[in-house]
Amino acid sequence: MEKKVTKIGVLTSGGDAPGMNAAIRAVVRTGIYNKLEVFGIMRGYMGMIDDDIFKMESKSVANIIQRGGTILKTARCKEFYTPEGRKAAYKNLKKHGINGLVIIGGDGSFRGAQIFSTEFDIPCIGLPGTIDKDIAGTDFTIGFDTAVNTAVQAIDKVRDTADAHDRLFIIEVMGRDSGYIALHSGVATGAENILIPEQKTDVEGVISALVEKHRRKKLVNIIVVAEGEQFGATELAKAITERLPQQEVRVTILGHIQRGGSPTCFDRLIASRMGYAAVESLMTNRFNVFIGIVNNKMHYIPLDQAVKKKQKISDDWMKIVKILSS
Ligand code: F6P
Repeated sequence: MEKKVTKIGVLTSGGDAPGMNAAIRAVVRTGIYNKLEVFGIMRGYMGMIDDDIFKMESKSVANIIQRGGTILKTARCKEFYTPEGRKAAYKNLKKHGINGLVIIGGDGSFRGAQIFSTEFDIPCIGLPGTIDKDIAGTDFTIGFDTAVNTAVQAIDKVRDTADAHDRLFIIEVMGRDSGYIALHSGVATGAENILIPEQKTDVEGVISALVEKHRRKKLVNIIVVAEGEQFGATELAKAITERLPQQEVRVTILGHIQRGGSPTCFDRLIASRMGYAAVESLMTNRFNVFIGIVNNKMHYIPLDQAVKKKQKISDDWMKIVKILSS
């Protein structure tokens, strides 16, 4: 597809992630620097369908790099998965003369972009924005570092009170299909165990590890559980209490605090680099890709190859957890 992109639309879609604002800022300012017009599209694909689209200036993105959430708001838009929805969206983009799109979101948002880009003559660039870090083809996603650091701070605090009372805490972190937040925050906080959706939970193994620790009078334990883990924190607590009635167990669900807050320096930097690369891509006719970072280098992966990353927790990780938390 040889064409000159002159007007770019930018939107955020799916679950918000800290650093999305930094990415929007980079897209807007790189676009304007290159004499392109940039339009903000509100609430993801919803704004395309509803024609909630406005022209952005350099000052539209002033003072946002440090803010969590997304100034363009976000949504999970079912209508966009229908041909009628996409047709309405296309008509509105045409009305504004938009001939290039930057979509900041997760794998579901990329799937939408991929379908749209094959149906209509509007090239799309995806930027991986999700706290879950579950997109194959990139070492990092915008928001993951912030979410993990938020989880680490919270788990550290819980450990203080766990220690004071000799309690077991089961702490649930986000990740409906992905255990990355659990894995990284668990290792960084010295969790005694980490349970993730990608791995079958061995409840007996969890209990026998606790029994062994009790034998050594180690009564303070933290188990970090990903939201999408097989049993869930509450069920697990019940199973443990039944078998170890002398062990006090508490459950803490961290929830959406992990999605908010000021992005870390790392997330601001990758978001800025990715936003800049998205505009460069559109200007050099590198269309319908999403931008990842692998070994600190930009990577351009065709949108139709954007898949949810299924990780296998390596035995090494679990060995590290076991040895370091003994
Ligand atoms: O954005 C990813 C995520 O935070 C998942 O980890 C979580 O399962 C989901 O979004 C929650 O979505 P919602 O905010 O729609 O409940």
